[in-house]
Amino acid sequence: MLSKRTSDNERDIAMKKVFSIAIDGPAGAGKSTIAKSLSKRLGVIYVDTGAMYRAMALYLIRCGVDPENATAISDKCKEADISIAFENGMQQVLLNGENVSGLIRTEEVSSMASKSSVNPDVRTKLVELQQKLAEKEALVMDGRDIGTVVLPKAEVKIYLTASSAVRAKRRYDELKAKGEDCELAQIEADIIERDHRDMTREISPLKQADDAVLVDTSDMSIEEVEEKLVSIVEEKING
Ligand code: DC
Repeated sequence: MLSKRTSDNERDIAMKKVFSIAIDGPAGAGKSTIAKSLSKRLGVIYVDTGAMYRAMALYLIRCGVDPENATAISDKCKEADISIAFENGMQQVLLNGENVSGLIRTEEVSSMASKSSVNPDVRTKLVELQQKLAEKEALVMDGRDIGTVVLPKAEVKIYLTASSAVRAKRRYDELKAKGEDCELAQIEADIIERDHRDMTREISPLKQADDAVLVDTSDMSIEEVEEKLVSIVEEKING
């Protein structure tokens, strides 16, 4: 239950000028769940930048681009117009005007997005779009490079992480609940490999910004993480 003071503070935060909350971290740390609930509590929009990289990846797949062919990726990404819209408060991602939100969560798209997101032309294009959104309105934005590259002046920066074992278990439980056949050890191995790729890539590697607050969610419930983030935001924005 929120105290009166807390809810007043949250309203104050929401009424402030345009402000940005940047949440970065590896896959499976709980970024999108937390960013979504935090944005709702603060009454601001939530921007999922991973969905933009995924929409771009879908375009490249549709064009038959080889994920190892950097020149083809650089060429083709120019043709993809990515934008976002909101439906009942939920972000929708549009690819050349088509709502592709329901098509970007497949393994094929994940794999292409992981490879094509290292391309500098893809990044330049999507970073520009993300920066324009943040100029216009208050938001919570999550990704890998938000606090370091996209919004280096964000009022609040959070680096959300959890051990690879915990992240693998969360993913395993999610897949099992959907009735999918999977193996915990394989999921953890994939997570470790993706972390390595995200953290060691040349452009905008995943790393904690110097002024980001580290939150390790390994032993925390969603509610605990949410409370923690609200208190960080209050402290940073209201002083
Ligand atoms: O968070 P996600 O799994 O939806 O992200 C999809 C891919 O895009 C993933 O490989 C990481 C990459 N990505 C990125 O490079 N930079 C971002 N700001 C967001 C996602």
